Amino acid sequence: MTLSTAVTTGALAALLAVSHAATIQKITAPLDSNPSNVGFYLYVPDKLAPNPPVLVNPHWCHGSALDAYKGTQYAALADTHGFLVIYPDSPNTADKCWDLSSPGTLHHGGGGDSLGIVSMVNYTLAKYKANAGRVFATGVSSGAMMTTTLLGAYPDVFAAGSAYSGVPFGCFKAADTTTSKNSSSLVDVWSDACATGRLTQSPEAWAALVEDAFPGYAGWRPKMQLFHGTADAVLNYTVLGEEVKQWNAVLGFPQTPTTVTPNTPLPGWTKSVYGDGGDWLEVYSAAGVTHNIQQHESLTLAWLDLSS
Ligand SMILES: *[C@@H]1O[C@H](CO)[C@@H](O)[C@H](O)[C@H]1NC(C)=O
Ligand SMILES: *[C@@H]1O[C@H](CO)[C@@H](O)[C@H](O)[C@H]1NC(C)=O
Ligand SMILES: *[C@@H]1O[C@H](CO)[C@@H](O)[C@H](O)[C@H]1NC(C)=O
Repeated sequence: MTLSTAVTTGALAALLAVSHAATIQKITAPLDSNPSNVGFYLYVPDKLAPNPPVLVNPHWCHGSALDAYKGTQYAALADTHGFLVIYPDSPNTADKCWDLSSPGTLHHGGGGDSLGIVSMVNYTLAKYKANAGRVFATGVSSGAMMTTTLLGAYPDVFAAGSAYSGVPFGCFKAADTTTSKNSSSLVDVWSDACATGRLTQSPEAWAALVEDAFPGYAGWRPKMQLFHGTADAVLNYTVLGEEVKQWNAVLGFPQTPTTVTPNTPLPGWTKSVYGDGGDWLEVYSAAGVTHNIQQHESLTLAWLDLSS
């Protein structure tokens, strides 16, 4: 019996696809600085692009690096487009949420999970001669919050990000009233005031959190793409408006969109673009969609300029 009679064409294609795909690796090499001991998983496709871009894909709460690897299309897309994917793994074994509230994680070079992840980026850039000008982040829920934490605290490292169902940078810390705000134990804060959208503040107050993350920084600010469902009962839809205020203020844009396109990419989803003369903040509002929002990898890849 020949192979071609033993398996259907589809199964053979799947077999070949599997045999060509690389596998995720756990990296144990020492990093410059990983104070909270974030786990480091890396996907290197068989065919790397020359001077490859780097995508960081932090997982959601109660998830892991391997869940993110298996649960999204990014590794398969890396096979097609030749970029590297870093899957960090939260050291917080209690709930596997990211540290989005400690003074360390919220400050450039300050420590916490964000610094460990940036050290992974540094390692990857050096080891694979990757492109320091094309480092990106994307994630859902806690992974979205880590995406905005990375972009806010390390605008010199990340060129753009895509955040699905997150909150503004520093929101949990800003909304926290239970702990001394300067306490370094402020690691696993969940704030109902933030999550329910009760904490609303001015664009300037939101932007100040980002500016305080890296005092004196006057360089490039990353582009931001946001997605949020109107029926999100975990992180209320109101927080999307707070995020829009924050990033428009950080980027120096007016708070009104330059274009609004209904039914994009799906019926009931509305795309709004902010900023004059360039796509710097792109926002998708998804009518009737819950916290379990569908990721649109193709839109995210296009936004991060990873599909070429
Ligand atoms: C990353 O590398 C740059 C350039 O070598 C260095 O300035 C920076 O401190 C490094 N950051 C981390 C977190 O290792
Ligand atoms: C936190 O630190 C700031 C700046 O160092 C200081 O002004 C403030 O009083 C401190 N707050 C608390 C609660 O310790
Ligand atoms: C979001 O918050 C608003 C205002 O409190 C509330 O009316 C709405 O029901 C909340 N949405 C969800 C999905 O819980």
